[in-house]
Amino acid sequence: MSQRVTRRSLLEHGGKAAAGMAALGAALGGCAGSSGPQRLATAVPRRPLGANEKINVAFIGCGGIAKYNLKHFMESEQINVIALCDVDRSHLEEVAQIVKNTSGETPKIEKDYRRVIDMNGIDAVVISTPDHWHAIPMIAAAAAGKDVYVEKPCCHNIKEGRAMVDAARKYNIVCQVGTHQRSAMHMQEAIEYLRSGKLGTISMTETYTYGNEAPDGMGHEPDGPVPEGVDYDMWLGPAPLRPFNKRHFHFWFRWYFDYAAGMVGDWNVHLQDITMLALETDHPFAVSTSGGKLILTDDRDTPDTMLATYEFKPGPYTPKGHVHLYTMRKASGPPWSRGGYGMVFHGTNGKLHMTRKDWEVIPDAKDWAKPEGGFRTEGFKKEGVDNHFEHVKNFLACMRSRQKPVATIEEHFKTVTACHLANVSLRAGRKIYWDHEKELCFKDAEKSIPDPLANRFLGREYRKGYELPKV
Ligand SMILES: NC(=O)c1ccc[n+]([C@@H]2O[C@H](COP(=O)([O-])OP(=O)(O)OC[C@H]3O[C@@H](n4cnc5c(N)ncnc54)[C@H](O)[C@@H]3O)[C@@H](O)[C@H]2O)c1
Repeated sequence: MSQRVTRRSLLEHGGKAAAGMAALGAALGGCAGSSGPQRLATAVPRRPLGANEKINVAFIGCGGIAKYNLKHFMESEQINVIALCDVDRSHLEEVAQIVKNTSGETPKIEKDYRRVIDMNGIDAVVISTPDHWHAIPMIAAAAAGKDVYVEKPCCHNIKEGRAMVDAARKYNIVCQVGTHQRSAMHMQEAIEYLRSGKLGTISMTETYTYGNEAPDGMGHEPDGPVPEGVDYDMWLGPAPLRPFNKRHFHFWFRWYFDYAAGMVGDWNVHLQDITMLALETDHPFAVSTSGGKLILTDDRDTPDTMLATYEFKPGPYTPKGHVHLYTMRKASGPPWSRGGYGMVFHGTNGKLHMTRKDWEVIPDAKDWAKPEGGFRTEGFKKEGVDNHFEHVKNFLACMRSRQKPVATIEEHFKTVTACHLANVSLRAGRKIYWDHEKELCFKDAEKSIPDPLANRFLGREYRKGYELPKV
């Protein structure tokens, strides 16, 4: 049965869950458990880094992507791994072993990120926690004067993203977001090509992510006991209390609004980022999203089908403005490993298609009735390679030079705002007009009628003890 993600369905879901929550809260030892309210450390003066001096790094979150981050930070041979932090002891032990086997180091292991941020001599933290746990440690680390490498999407919601941008500025830190496609040489070449005007005037861009998990998606898993060695209260953090369930936990959290933003924030953020970077696009003017959870029978609450249409005002490479389409299907089409993702730029001379492996220009005929009459531009295809290692090295170089990294939090905030707005429009059930100065949604193009329903989805309720620190 089709199920649209609406405010009502979310409230009903929340209502049922609320019943057992008081008991669960008591069982977990109350709100913040071992933790207590979030507070900001006092900044210690930043240690000047010599050109060959090793940088002291702590890793907060030691799950899937953290291992990849750790690998490349260590391969740079520019860092000491001072500390590892995770609320799951098994992940901590696994990653500590990787470090020991690779470099012989024995970093401190710690489950509370605040103790890590307080440790003497840490220059930077790498945050690879789930999305709902990016903003709080990032702001705390910035306030303590640490540089930050934070995974994409940088924030669980738009208000958090704003606070992160403000923190990076206020505390003058270097902050790189993990949108590593920005460091891929072929994407930089393609961007140069697009800006050269050879594709003509661009009026439309597209991003798409597909995959077929029909009919069951991630399947069903009953609630169960918290695994040994896991501080589940700390894992939930700002999110509402709910009984432990494997399908809401490691990796799978990305399909629930309590912790993440679904596919548009998980994968499309990479693609949307390059389309907006290439055209130096400012924030969207309007967003209208259709879709919902139409096919999959698992209990995710993010959509399996989405079509988001964005309107952008004129920019430096789009003199008339442009339209952007994001199409997402999780129940039809090949997965990303079989080509089920990409970016397309449509210009008056043809189209440019780009993935992590290549980019291709497919020209329009001068006259499609007489294709033998030649094309409007030259067609070609070039190979490429994604370059996560370069992204990490760019962060470390910027820590030394105090220059802006390739994926600043300010730029990422524009991308991630666009991604979150697709969900805001879907959940509000209507087209929204975005005022990026006020950072509010309106019901009309003149931006005179506020949209209180849409604006509710710009932030979240923070569980007591896990509030967003004030910047
Ligand atoms: N850049 C990329 O290409 C890329 C790829 C995959 C994931 N990611 C992003 O990285 C983040 C993590 O994703 P993942 O797939 O690695 O998830 P994961 O579930 O595998 O790992 C997250 C880890 O964080 C830990 N954690 C949770 N709360 C914590 C807390 N309060 N303190 C310390 N540790 C905590 C978890 O126990 C877990 O070990 C997500 O935001 C995701 O979008 C980025």
